[in-house]
Amino acid sequence: MNIKEMSQGIHMLSMSIDDMLFEGMWELPHGVSLNSFIVKGEKTAIIDGIIGWDGVPETLYKSLGEIDINPEEIDYVIVNHMEPDHSGWLENFKKINKNFTVLVTQKGGQMIEPFYGDSVNIQVVKEGDSLDLGDGKVLTFHPTPNVHWPETMLTYEASSKTLFTCDMYGAFGSLKNHYFDDEMTEEEMNLYEEEAKRYFSNVLATFSMMVEKAIKKSKEFDIAVIAPGHGPIYRDNPQKIIKDYEKYCQFSKGYGENEITILWGSMYGMTQKAVDYAKDILKNQGIKVNDIQMPQASQSEMVTSVFKSAGIILATPTYEYKMYPPVAHALDELGRKRIANKEVFRFGSYGWSGGAEKELAQIIENHKMKWNFVESVEFNGKAEESDLSKIESAIHQLIENMKNKVIN
Ligand SMILES: Cc1cc2nc3c(=O)[nH]c(=O)nc-3n(C[C@H](O)[C@H](O)[C@H](O)COP(=O)(O)O)c2cc1C
Ligand SMILES: [Fe+2]
Ligand SMILES: [Fe+2]
Repeated sequence: MNIKEMSQGIHMLSMSIDDMLFEGMWELPHGVSLNSFIVKGEKTAIIDGIIGWDGVPETLYKSLGEIDINPEEIDYVIVNHMEPDHSGWLENFKKINKNFTVLVTQKGGQMIEPFYGDSVNIQVVKEGDSLDLGDGKVLTFHPTPNVHWPETMLTYEASSKTLFTCDMYGAFGSLKNHYFDDEMTEEEMNLYEEEAKRYFSNVLATFSMMVEKAIKKSKEFDIAVIAPGHGPIYRDNPQKIIKDYEKYCQFSKGYGENEITILWGSMYGMTQKAVDYAKDILKNQGIKVNDIQMPQASQSEMVTSVFKSAGIILATPTYEYKMYPPVAHALDELGRKRIANKEVFRFGSYGWSGGAEKELAQIIENHKMKWNFVESVEFNGKAEESDLSKIESAIHQLIENMKNKVIN
């Protein structure tokens, strides 16, 4: 566990993990950090949980001892979010500290018992409620429902102008040497920016309408520091992550960077040959291409890539009267994430009567994705010159269509 002083009386506790799948399914090539925060006035509060803690009491005594805090004397636990990646430590903490109070939103309060039993003191907080810890430290609470789960909230500490945001403004990526944006090299900042996109698309995209509301609320505060539960702490330029998150909400609505993701699969190379042809065209046009072959690419990479691209090429043959399953599964995942309004072109090979096109329409309709398609090109067996020239024209049309969807 790494402990960093953020300001007088406020410390960050951070652990990084890289040997698990986030939510049991998202690959973490750069790991993820779990951050919690201690605010000490005359009374002591801990915001979000110390998840990396192994549950052994001595470890907690030793770590918190470094900053002169006795775990038995922590008065309040602020649960901004009940998901076990933040609250899961309560189970073990209850064994050490018999007398703390959990502050949560009303919906959070309803979740404590089913997750952690009834032996916890709960204080439900509403918008604007405050907790005076003494010594000039006052926390205020601001529910922002459905920034992932229904019970989520933000916590603000006025004397240091710190906004504790839990999942909101989070990013994947372990924190190893540097924890604050002002300590990071440009290369590190770029990595965390990519990891924030991946985190947003994998974890929050489905809730982007609610995230947008929460961004609006967060902008009402006088902010010097944004302290999320995952990823770096922003104290040099907290506005950066706010702007980035605003942009990611737009990615969910079909906007994107000036790049095209080719999401494709092929069994015997018929569709693949046309994919190679499409890549050459895009290269000549100077457009950045993200090559996502299914099932080889991870779900995490696939979702991020489509999410952030202004243009999508779907290339899939027909398989048992439907789409090639790895591409169909990818598309279904994108629908679940409510990635809507993308500019798209699809092509693919079939052997006899086709069927991929019909299933494509069904998936798009089922998830109300409202993707805007250039007319598809389907070919029997291998693509002939005439098919390739149709593909070329369609790609030019796609490039035209995506022009008004590009944002930086
Ligand atoms: C397991 C399997 C199932 C298939 N099912 C269909 C089908 O239902 N309808 C059809 O028109 N072609 C079907 N085909 C033929 C393929 O769509 C055709 O071979 C196509 O060229 C494959 O393209 P690829 O080389 O890019 O995978 C199937 C092929 C395989 C191997
Ligand atoms: Fe969460
Ligand atoms: Fe989380």
